[in-house]
Amino acid sequence: MVNSKLSQGNKKRDELAIFGGEPIRKTMIYYGRQWIEEDDLRAVMEALNDDLITTGPRAGAFEEMFADYVGSKEAVVVSNGTAALHAAMYAAGIKEGDEVIVPTMTFAASANCVVFQGGTPIFADVKDDTLLIDPEDVIRKITDRTRAIIPVDYIGQPCDYDLLNEIGEKHDLMIVADACHSLGGEYKGLKVGTLADMSVFSFHPVKHLTTGEGGMITTENAELAAKMRSFRTHGITTDHKLREEQGTWFYEMVDLGYNYRITDFQCALGMSQLQNLPSRVRRRQDIAKRYHKAFSSLDAVRPVSVREDVSHAYHLFVIRLDLNLLKVNRAEIFQALRAEGIGVHVHYIPVHLHPYYQNNFGTYRGQCPVAERSYEEILTLPLYPMMNDVDVDNVIEAVEKVMLAFQR
Ligand SMILES: Cc1ncc(COP(=O)(O)O)c(C=O)c1O
Repeated sequence: MVNSKLSQGNKKRDELAIFGGEPIRKTMIYYGRQWIEEDDLRAVMEALNDDLITTGPRAGAFEEMFADYVGSKEAVVVSNGTAALHAAMYAAGIKEGDEVIVPTMTFAASANCVVFQGGTPIFADVKDDTLLIDPEDVIRKITDRTRAIIPVDYIGQPCDYDLLNEIGEKHDLMIVADACHSLGGEYKGLKVGTLADMSVFSFHPVKHLTTGEGGMITTENAELAAKMRSFRTHGITTDHKLREEQGTWFYEMVDLGYNYRITDFQCALGMSQLQNLPSRVRRRQDIAKRYHKAFSSLDAVRPVSVREDVSHAYHLFVIRLDLNLLKVNRAEIFQALRAEGIGVHVHYIPVHLHPYYQNNFGTYRGQCPVAERSYEEILTLPLYPMMNDVDVDNVIEAVEKVMLAFQR
């Protein structure tokens, strides 16, 4: 059944082979994927053989190891990046009537977490060159009700945190970095995870390290960390470890929380993956370098700009099409690359354009013009550390072939 579905997918792709002849790849290369090695499997198996398989000692050990890696005082592990954003909004005290400024060029979860707490996300436009949140638009959108800003390190490039922290201090706003794309990145020599009041990470399989599903929040503030630890387990103040230490059945639910716990075998995978993180980030950066070099000679392709004060973690590699130089739109380029076996994607549809936000928060087309225009031009190419040099060559060759075929 599965196989026949897969072969149907391939047939569709062959039918799409616009240029005739063989596609560059017979099997699709996806835009991102996990890399699981023997060490990872061993670590997970060992954890599964222990008594405690839900949140146990490995959760704390993973938190410590992660905090050590980014250089933060605290790290709080949860079940996924969306839960991490939600916990951060809870700890920041976001409630009904509060506004939180979020860039529109992001995954919906960056804004949804505000709604979970009863707040209102206010969408900021992005800068035309980097597609990162535009600090000037942030300033324009601050009101008496604004409580926080969630800058998103879109595709792996850290935002301008000096500027954003300055805005935060001046207007008494909390800065919660959505760093789900930028683990392993740096800003002015400082690691992502230490640049804001709280920084949020995701361990989804396409991210820099995976636990299947998983998330983490780092902070310097022990009080915020304690709130999030309670929030991830029903708003209960003592966790399993504390109860064991005290030898007591007693616990108190002090606030409404959720079950956002992660399992110990996922944390075992996380720790094992974290050991390989630096080399995998370097591999992402090397692939990106090859893409930058190859595409610099294609007039109709522009990469998203990279500032000099960052080390880009390259979660994704996004190109921008110069539609004036092409005979077709982005959708046709997308289909042509898919037909060549290149699993391109689009990150993202600006969040304020989603029906949910238009219907419930009155957002509208025209509200964030730079993001809306950029959305028509962007295309995500495959980029993940396990890609070999032939895979990278195939992507470059396919982009060159398609651009040449469609240029004016
Ligand atoms: C920018 C951004 N924020 C938040 C999330 C949510 O993370 P998760 O999928 O782990 O819930 C994602 C996930 O893709 C993301 O890309």
